[in-house]
Amino acid sequence: MPAKILIQKGKKQYFDDLARDVTIVKEKSYYIGDISKDFSTSGGTIKKSELKKSGIIKSLQGKEFRIFDASFIDNYRRIKRLPQIIPLKDIGFILAKTGVGKDSVVVEGGTGSGALAIMLARCCKKVYSYEVEKEHLDIAAENMKALGIKNIVLKNKSMYEGIDEKAVDVVCLDLPEPWKALNPVSRCLKLGGFIVSYSPTIVQSADFVNALSPREDFIHLKTVEVIEREWEIDKRKVRPTSKSIIHSGFISMGRKI
Ligand SMILES: C[S@@+](CC[C@H](N)C(=O)[O-])C[C@H]1O[C@@H](n2cnc3c(N)ncnc32)[C@H](O)[C@@H]1O
Repeated sequence: MPAKILIQKGKKQYFDDLARDVTIVKEKSYYIGDISKDFSTSGGTIKKSELKKSGIIKSLQGKEFRIFDASFIDNYRRIKRLPQIIPLKDIGFILAKTGVGKDSVVVEGGTGSGALAIMLARCCKKVYSYEVEKEHLDIAAENMKALGIKNIVLKNKSMYEGIDEKAVDVVCLDLPEPWKALNPVSRCLKLGGFIVSYSPTIVQSADFVNALSPREDFIHLKTVEVIEREWEIDKRKVRPTSKSIIHSGFISMGRKI
């Protein structure tokens, strides 16, 4: 049975004496993984028979909710995480800038929780993903299964020691010492193929680029930090949200020449 997304739409009302809108129902969103039993919300219990529907439903207390099937991205957001995953803003940049598509073959590692591997697999023909920790591979395999991803080959092997594949289109590295993988990556990338390295600190990125740039077999294209700034829009109150911009990592891109 597919998971469901249940939403209670927020409601505001203008109060003359306060001269402002006041939230009378707070907007809430729920992910329901198991629809075979009743579900409790702050707006009351939703009977399991209602959870099978799509559209507008009501709780036993008469409160209105919207319900629909969870999409891939709703399910993806709930994957199990052991090591830190690459956030979507950075994954989007990697997918767009390497131009990977349905014919692309990609090597990536460390697999970690499989977040990047799964997103690559959604776009690409095949993904080979390397990981040294068996426990991390198990989590990634579980996440792949939950999302129905079948075109990832998991490998319990260090990327520093060698990459088995040849003439691949893109290699993505999310490793503590990515510069140690440069020789194996050079041997496995096709000419013109992209190397992408993701690091949480700029010191790692600098060490990576300083090892890559002088080589005859690579050029450094760019190193970027992708900044996502969210805005709050409520009538004419339009401003950046008070949430701070969270740092995730730096992306360095190069090309095999
Ligand atoms: C930050 S996590 C990767 C997260 C992953 N990109 C994701 O989005 O879920 C880094 C992973 O690299 C693995 N690792 C460390 N050294 C490695 C190596 N030499 N070869 C392959 N994997 C390695 C670690 O065990 C860890 O799981």
